Amino acid sequence: MQGKLTVDPTNQISKIDDRVFSALIEHLGRGVYDGLYNPGNPLSDDNGFRQDVVKAVKDLNIDLIRYPGGNFVSGYNWEDGIGPKDQRPTRLDLAWRSIETNQFGLHEFMKWTKQTGTRPDMAVNLGSRGIDAARNLVEYCNYPGGTYWSDLRKQNGAAEPFNIKTWCLGNEMDGDWQIGHKDAEEYGKLAHETAKVMRLVDPDLDLVVSGSSTREMATFGSWEETVLDHTYDDVQYLSLHRYYDNEENDLHNFLAKSVDFDEFISGIVAVCDAVKARKHSDKTLNLALDEWNVWYHSHKQDDETAPWQNAPHLLEDHYNFEDALMVGTMLITLLKHADRVKIACLAQLVNVIAPIMTDDTGIWLQSIFFPFMQVSKYGRGIALAPKQTADTYNSKDFTDVPYLDSLAVYNPEHHEVVVFAENKGEDAMDFSTELREFTAQSVIEATQFAGYDIKQTNEDQTMAIKSNDHVTLTDNTLQTTLQPLSWNMFRIQVTE
Ligand code: AHR
Repeated sequence: MQGKLTVDPTNQISKIDDRVFSALIEHLGRGVYDGLYNPGNPLSDDNGFRQDVVKAVKDLNIDLIRYPGGNFVSGYNWEDGIGPKDQRPTRLDLAWRSIETNQFGLHEFMKWTKQTGTRPDMAVNLGSRGIDAARNLVEYCNYPGGTYWSDLRKQNGAAEPFNIKTWCLGNEMDGDWQIGHKDAEEYGKLAHETAKVMRLVDPDLDLVVSGSSTREMATFGSWEETVLDHTYDDVQYLSLHRYYDNEENDLHNFLAKSVDFDEFISGIVAVCDAVKARKHSDKTLNLALDEWNVWYHSHKQDDETAPWQNAPHLLEDHYNFEDALMVGTMLITLLKHADRVKIACLAQLVNVIAPIMTDDTGIWLQSIFFPFMQVSKYGRGIALAPKQTADTYNSKDFTDVPYLDSLAVYNPEHHEVVVFAENKGEDAMDFSTELREFTAQSVIEATQFAGYDIKQTNEDQTMAIKSNDHVTLTDNTLQTTLQPLSWNMFRIQVTE
């Protein structure tokens, strides 16, 4: 098999926004409790924050943390999570049918973001609540002082405002499963009014309006059109969510779903631009892909989990090697849309469909941790439009799928071109990258994530990214072999 990528710096997609390396943390299962927050555990600090989790989050270079949900936010009273812990109410969380103790709330979250070097992306409840709770929350978080809510924040220990910049106007409001689900007309009007009032409190907010929860929704497309009719001028971002599964156990069809992902993003961009044209607007709306991942392994177990438990084991997918390849191809697809996708949140971060898993004695890193960590660390700079040639295959739902998925990122600061390449085939691939305009000086690093059984998971922590020692660089061309079913990265020092 053959594959070739031509790298040309004159063919740029866009600068990659740091916020595409973000994640969701929801009050769900063991995401917060028994996950990142575990008071009394020897691995936790005085705040109850697990220090092994903090380190792993830092290793992932996460930017924004979307919080507190997810479906959870649509039934959440944010006021329950502030003030003295012994006075906070225990409530039923109706989204996940669990017990919510509210021992972790807004102040704990803000402290945790500081410790992990991340930034908040706060969701407001537009399900069971609305404008009033949202404006109070903005006042509590961002107003300096001298009013009821801002003084209460001070009284609760935060003298300085949190200054939260990014806010989501509800979550998946198109879905009937959502508490307070609305039709597009109702939600569009509510989102518009909420945005207006939140901005009266703080004019400097970046707002994300809820798009479709999946491409399969009957309202997909029309939901966006109607909602944007009401909110186009109010918001900076439209959200989209996408999860993939391999329920049918068909590896090649599974990995080909990156084609669907690509079309999904392009379709939403087209809808945004159609609304822009119709409104004669000068403003281009960007996207917040604020939930994405593989999700399916835990479905059966979740159906059998008894309700009304504290921190139950929910959505605890154990990811295997093919899932890591899927996450890899999703990451490359995402970067191909760097011109419009400005925020992307891996859903989620700890224990719940997550790269980081905890138990009482430590953490273990899932297979999907590795490609995410590499792209998040080295995929900084300018995404270059991939000009590639490769053999193709047909699968159950897709035709002419390239076995190769590849993309280069140019980092002018470090004079570095970083190539991410995935071989989706079961044969080795002769792979070359030709650099145009640049002069390639040396290969800084060449790595591969390969050689594992596609169903292997990583509870025993044996998976690792290894170096690829069979790389040559001559005449501005890097040459190597991509192992069957492999995720690869090449860092090349260049002069411009
Ligand atoms: O991430 C898990 C759930 O998936 C979120 O709560 C919801 O927004 C989506 O359906």
